Amino acid sequence: MSRGDAVPVHVDEERLDGLVVRLGEVGAHPDGGIVRTQYSPAWREAQDLVAQLMREAGLTVREDAVGNVFGRLEGDGSAGTLLTGSHVDTVLHGGAYDGALGVLAGIAAAEAAATAGGRPRRAVEVVSLCEEEGSRFHANFFGTRAILGVVDPDEPDRLVDADGVTLADAARSVGLDPATFAQARRDDLDLFLELHIEQGRTLVDSGTDVGVVDVITGLKWLEVEVQGSTDHAGATAMADRHDALQGAARMAAAVESVVTEQGHPAVGTVGVMRVQPGGANIVPGRVGFTVDLRHPDPTVLERLEAAVRERCRSVADDRRLDVAVTLVKDTPPHGLDAGLRTVLRDAADACGASWRDLPSGAGHDSQTMATRVPTAMVFVPSVDGRSHSPAEYSRPSDCARGASVLATALRALAW
Ligand code: HGY
Ligand code: MN
Ligand code: MN
Repeated sequence: MSRGDAVPVHVDEERLDGLVVRLGEVGAHPDGGIVRTQYSPAWREAQDLVAQLMREAGLTVREDAVGNVFGRLEGDGSAGTLLTGSHVDTVLHGGAYDGALGVLAGIAAAEAAATAGGRPRRAVEVVSLCEEEGSRFHANFFGTRAILGVVDPDEPDRLVDADGVTLADAARSVGLDPATFAQARRDDLDLFLELHIEQGRTLVDSGTDVGVVDVITGLKWLEVEVQGSTDHAGATAMADRHDALQGAARMAAAVESVVTEQGHPAVGTVGVMRVQPGGANIVPGRVGFTVDLRHPDPTVLERLEAAVRERCRSVADDRRLDVAVTLVKDTPPHGLDAGLRTVLRDAADACGASWRDLPSGAGHDSQTMATRVPTAMVFVPSVDGRSHSPAEYSRPSDCARGASVLATALRALAW
């Protein structure tokens, strides 16, 4: 493909918005937002709905051994498969666009590209990936890793949720058999395209229609367990305490100072803190908390982890506590395919959409897919840059414009 001869393919705004509204109802939580975690009943309902929407769009549907749902447009056999899509699961009380829009835009884009006529040279598949968020298990891009054949055999029985349910048992509860997970591996993928909301402010602040992602940030999750001693809140003198929460609070503050000292785009978040035994008149004996560290430079990310570990250790020593820091998620940053990024820019030009290159501060399936398959991402604007929140919103016109860019790129790459 030379620059500038992409033929624009239009995705209808109402068609796509109707899909977003329908899927957004699945897992809607009375406390706000959406909760659709891996292998939950809402997850099963969502994947069944996605399969139906794929069939309605004229795609041939199958579900693989880990619950990834694929919709396929057959090619003429002269090339492999172009895969597009994203994840169906959400964070707790998340929004209706993170992941879901990439699945639904993929369906609408494949449908629009097919309607433009002719049989694709390369098969085109849309995937609704079973898990990306790690919001139930520390599964870490589970659907994509199963496709690449890099799920560790012990994960299904080793990973447990907050209620002690193993990933294997949760899979069985939605009709999957963990013994067959390895069958999800594929070797026929030529390339992967993912449409996703930006989840930040760059596009909306600059008034740009779409983003072409150049690098996806690296991320590390730490679990920190602080052990003190449970004591009476009234009768225990301050000098005699081993207060796990006072220690954990200083460690959490140290996370912020470590990344602030490093400077943007380093970010650090303590998102979960569990206090035990959890009583107003009990000195906390044990506290567990999570640390999410990110940076697009792997060397800097390593340095941030080491600094956080060192600060936790010194706080524990000062306050006569024990501390254990465990790395539970480690996803390196990854640059995206230069050739595919050019195709996305040309597609945006053909659609009359303004574009800009930008990094992703959020993690995505694409950074794992990119380790094996040429991969690129197109972003659509997030209103107020909000995400991982019930306030997450992208305008239907922006979603349709991004989906049209995706459809135009599918046409350029597969027909
Ligand atoms: O955490 C992330 O960046 C992604 O939403 N899983
Ligand atoms: Mn997310
Ligand atoms: Mn996402």
